Amino acid sequence: MQALVLIGGFGTRLRPVTYDLPKQLIPIAGKPMLYHALDLLPREVDRAVFATGYKADVIAEYVRAHPHPRLAIRTVPEAEPLGTGGGMRNAGDGIGDPFVLLNSDVISDVNVTALLAFHRERQAYGTMYLHEVEDVRPYGVAALDARDRIERFVEKPEPADAPSRWINAGVHVWAESVLEQIPRGRPVSFEREIVPGILDRGVYGFRSHGYWEDAGTPERLLHAQRLLFDGGRGGASPLPSGASGTGPVAVGRGVSADGGSFGPYVTLSDGVSVRAGAHVENSVLLEGAVVGAGATVRNSIIGPNFEIPPGRHVLDAVLANARPP
Ligand code: GDD
Ligand code: MG
Repeated sequence: MQALVLIGGFGTRLRPVTYDLPKQLIPIAGKPMLYHALDLLPREVDRAVFATGYKADVIAEYVRAHPHPRLAIRTVPEAEPLGTGGGMRNAGDGIGDPFVLLNSDVISDVNVTALLAFHRERQAYGTMYLHEVEDVRPYGVAALDARDRIERFVEKPEPADAPSRWINAGVHVWAESVLEQIPRGRPVSFEREIVPGILDRGVYGFRSHGYWEDAGTPERLLHAQRLLFDGGRGGASPLPSGASGTGPVAVGRGVSADGGSFGPYVTLSDGVSVRAGAHVENSVLLEGAVVGAGATVRNSIIGPNFEIPPGRHVLDAVLANARPP
């Protein structure tokens, strides 16, 4: 079975880091959010097609350099961003029946084996994993009937127009023929333009009760990192030599942090340097970032090779050397 993985969007809410790097490659708890999303795919899924938009070449290069241990991956780039539906149509030829559709910014412990079993049992046309949230406004919202059939689906509703608190978790199973419903060669939002019109073919919702987060904003990305570490799915490692404090911390290769201290929930990518007296907590530091002596970094995402001067205090920030194009 194949999975179609949607990898696009400009990552506007994670700028300036995303001026250079697609958000899917930002590491969370030791590895890119994209590879955490792929971890959700069960053994039955052995191939993945990446529908890539923004920075497609950077994704393709990463995949070449870091082959997935289990999945054969094929990337299909878009000449221009086609949206979720347009990306599916562009990349979906030969995807097979049924296929798994996966958003690449979802951090969760949803059980896709159970989702597939549910989908087959109902002989559904499509089945969407649903997660319950308080604030549904940034998501797609589904209303279910007594048999879990989706009766109504509204993408990013006003609160008064939200039919429930159950949202599209970004993990679905679809019949291959759904692709024929999507016009080719122009941007299409699958959630806005296609899903509402195909509900009568038998689209079901499967409720998740585990943890879930869309890592598309700095706050949610750092929350996703805490969920991964707490759920034992983060790459927690011992503190770097000469460092003090508390984990969990994921430490890449060639990290130096002698005399530095760490609060919980930190990713230190390859080549990061944390100088004496500096403190880092609840943050992600990308390759080669430097935290100067005595500086502090809290609740922040620090881009590749960015240097925080000695003694500075960084709080709730996204910092990078990258510039708008
Ligand atoms: N190939 C391609 N091309 N992929 C795209 C494009 C595009 O133009 N635009 C977005 N994507 C990918 C993103 O990388 C992400 O994996 C997925 O499609 C959804 O896009 P987001 O931009 O992250 O959308 P969202 O988070 O606002 O809403 C979506 O996800 C929610 C759950 O996280 C919707 O599917 C909602 O219904 C859902 O609740
Ligand atoms: Mg998203």
